[in-house]
Amino acid sequence: MIEGCSVSPADPNPDVHPGSVARPDWWKSAVVYQVYPRSFADSDGDGVGDLGGILDHLDYLELLGVDVVWLSPVYRSPMADNGYDISDYHDVDPLFGTLEQLDELIAQLHARDMKLVMDLVVNHTSSAHAWFVESRSSTDNPKRDWYWWRSPRPGHEPGSPGAEPTNWGSAFSGPAWTYDDRTGEYYLHVFTPHQPDLNWENPEVRQAVYAMMRDWLDRGVDGFRMDVINVISKVVGPVGADGRVTLPDGVVGGERDPRWPGVVDTDVFADTPAFVLNGPRVHEFLQEMHRQVFAGRPPGLLKVGETPGCPVEEAVLYTDPSRDELDMVFQFEHVDLDSGPKGKWDIRPMTMLRLKESFGRWQNGLAEVGWNSLYLGNHDQPRCVSRFGSDAPEHREQSAKALATVLHLHRGTPYIYQGDELGMGNPGFTRLEQLRDVESLNHYATAVARGENPADVSRALAYKGRDNARVPMPWDASTGAGFTTGTPWLDLHPLSGSVNAAAQVDDPDSVFSHYRRLIALRHAEPCVAHGTFRMLLANHEQLYCFERSFDDTRLLVVANLSSTADVVPDLSELVAWSSAEPLIASVPGSSPTPTDPLAPWESRVFRLT
Ligand code: GLC
Repeated sequence: MIEGCSVSPADPNPDVHPGSVARPDWWKSAVVYQVYPRSFADSDGDGVGDLGGILDHLDYLELLGVDVVWLSPVYRSPMADNGYDISDYHDVDPLFGTLEQLDELIAQLHARDMKLVMDLVVNHTSSAHAWFVESRSSTDNPKRDWYWWRSPRPGHEPGSPGAEPTNWGSAFSGPAWTYDDRTGEYYLHVFTPHQPDLNWENPEVRQAVYAMMRDWLDRGVDGFRMDVINVISKVVGPVGADGRVTLPDGVVGGERDPRWPGVVDTDVFADTPAFVLNGPRVHEFLQEMHRQVFAGRPPGLLKVGETPGCPVEEAVLYTDPSRDELDMVFQFEHVDLDSGPKGKWDIRPMTMLRLKESFGRWQNGLAEVGWNSLYLGNHDQPRCVSRFGSDAPEHREQSAKALATVLHLHRGTPYIYQGDELGMGNPGFTRLEQLRDVESLNHYATAVARGENPADVSRALAYKGRDNARVPMPWDASTGAGFTTGTPWLDLHPLSGSVNAAAQVDDPDSVFSHYRRLIALRHAEPCVAHGTFRMLLANHEQLYCFERSFDDTRLLVVANLSSTADVVPDLSELVAWSSAEPLIASVPGSSPTPTDPLAPWESRVFRLT
């Protein structure tokens, strides 16, 4: 048993453990750990993480107690977007290792009662994928219609600004169309020009994707995290003179659509989200995918959809079990709370009241039907401690614990992004040369060309850029942080010497041990997975406080999400909790009661039976 917790972390998850009869919705009591392979562990000294590195650290994941590993893409890729541009869905990129190592990873995870969920990137391929190479080769190639090819706008010089078939902007700066002079047409890419969008209207495309997914399930993977899956269905108009459906223009210079934080150039481009998010056929496609890929297989394969710009009402549709679409979504509302009217890089303070309002609304919206993924960070977001907590030296650890406590006790499936369990904060980039991410570099070039102050742009990138989360995992205090013996592809975190796994795994007061306790609690206490949720003190500016109920058990979470000392939970109904058992306390050695004042970023969980 770990000190400070009445739950043994060694308890297996009875819902997942093959020794018991696994529930089809086992994922409600599971915790997922995201591995971003490039930054996890490098086994061959080339400075880039790989499958060998993951295989070397499975004991660590088992000790933490997670049930599922979500592996960001390891497929063959030119790496224009770090693997989210796939050129061969059936092979592993040599940078990351071999297919045999992936098989080994599946086998070893299964031997440890863990599951492997692969990233599925099928809104687009790489422009180096054989499908696209064929498609771009001629206008009458059989795969021409597998992508969105359209003629230049009439009356404009092909390839010149304004000649794009529609006025949509890309999520990573610039237009969403690139001209290909070989055939004199443009192709659509919601992301970089190296990521052409597949045309899901074409049934052959869908069949090819489903066949590939079946192959992976046959290989033994346990499900998919589906990249921007709500972007696959585009709004189309009637069939045009060229025999292809038309794609409509939007209004330029209108209000930015807050659902798509990446698109910032609304003075130049139209509001792309309206045409690509949650499109008219997306539910039909997902139901078809279910029939063709998952139906008839043993229940319990995991289907997680990444769904930017998905309101809670839409999430209910995606995750209603009777609709056979997805098990849960990754929604983006809370990670856009610190974006201003000009988008992602127009940074506003992240306030706790807004976070509570948003999370609370999602808890209510999915209370009866549907399910949510719970996350505060991933490979696309800055470190949660620096964003929602405090990475000041005196608060970093406690705020990492408080955020984890609050997140893991919500209704939904928690996701841990590698390094969050160590309390890693943003590294504090100071130079543009330190950045590698295509989104950040494109934004810098576009914003500065538009006349923005380079220092302001850099500051925004240092706070919110995706490289923050991609800094290599610190395993120990050695020169390469135990991540690599070579030169890391992205600078190590400056605190790697002290904030690392070796320093934390055996320390009962560490952030790592706190995460272990939270995971163990979810496995042992059904109320965490299945209980109802009620927000308390909704308007309190420091306290995040809520209650969960299941059968005769009630859980109470009280967390001070602020750097203010001695915050008193002045709620009369907490008196009824005076006999409650403290389950998890973030301050070492404390045995608090529900009404005790809280220190900065202190968090507590109580149980009343
Ligand atoms: C998703 C991925 C992100 C990627 C984008 C395009 O949002 O998480 O990393 O850049 O899709 O594939």
